[in-house]
Amino acid sequence: PDTASFSARLVDWQRRHGRHHLPWQQTRDAYRIWLSEIMLQQTQVATVIPYYGRFLERFPTVADLAAAPDGDVMALWAGLGYYTRARNLHACAIAVMRDHGGVFPTRAATLETLPGIGRSTAAAIAAFSSGERGAILDGNVRRVLARWAGIEGWTGAPAVEAKLWTLATEVLPPDEPGAIESHTQGLMDLGATVCTRGKPGCDACPLAADCVALRDGRTAQLPAPRPK
Ligand code: ADE
Repeated sequence: PDTASFSARLVDWQRRHGRHHLPWQQTRDAYRIWLSEIMLQQTQVATVIPYYGRFLERFPTVADLAAAPDGDVMALWAGLGYYTRARNLHACAIAVMRDHGGVFPTRAATLETLPGIGRSTAAAIAAFSSGERGAILDGNVRRVLARWAGIEGWTGAPAVEAKLWTLATEVLPPDEPGAIESHTQGLMDLGATVCTRGKPGCDACPLAADCVALRDGRTAQLPAPRPK
């Protein structure tokens, strides 16, 4: 596969066919972007949108969220599930007030030290809030990369995951203004709308020309499921 042209094709596709009007795409505010990424970790876009609006109305700044009683945060989260996210959300807001003077960090290395923010989420927040160049690897991106490069094995296995992180880093765009934002959003959008789990839309995919899974007729087999 042609690693060198991956990002140019993806960025061009994202600019033409990706999503540009999601509520969290209208800001560079790291607090707002962080809130969206935590909500989107295990929940679909359509479900997140009304929760996101209600949260920001009640907690417009990280200071408002940090100062809120636990019960208020949990009540606004009710229905989104995975309640560890809500507890970490509140803990993270309190940590930003205590350790960062209420200024939400935008560097991935700093973001990763906060509760509930892992390597991929940190890189996404940094890319969208400050244009910092870094690789992401969420569930959708694992699927896109495993198919495109024909990576065998369960993507949760440490050796497979290590390969995917290396590949995610190799396909990053050059350090040009706006490129990392479009690349990052493009990976998310491609995974959500084209390179879907069932019946992928390879006709519309900018990576089809050198996709190993498509070439070998194995899009239904890759990525491999968790072994039993
Ligand atoms: N899933 C995770 N992050 C996302 C984002 N920024 N936009 C759309 N879907 C996402």
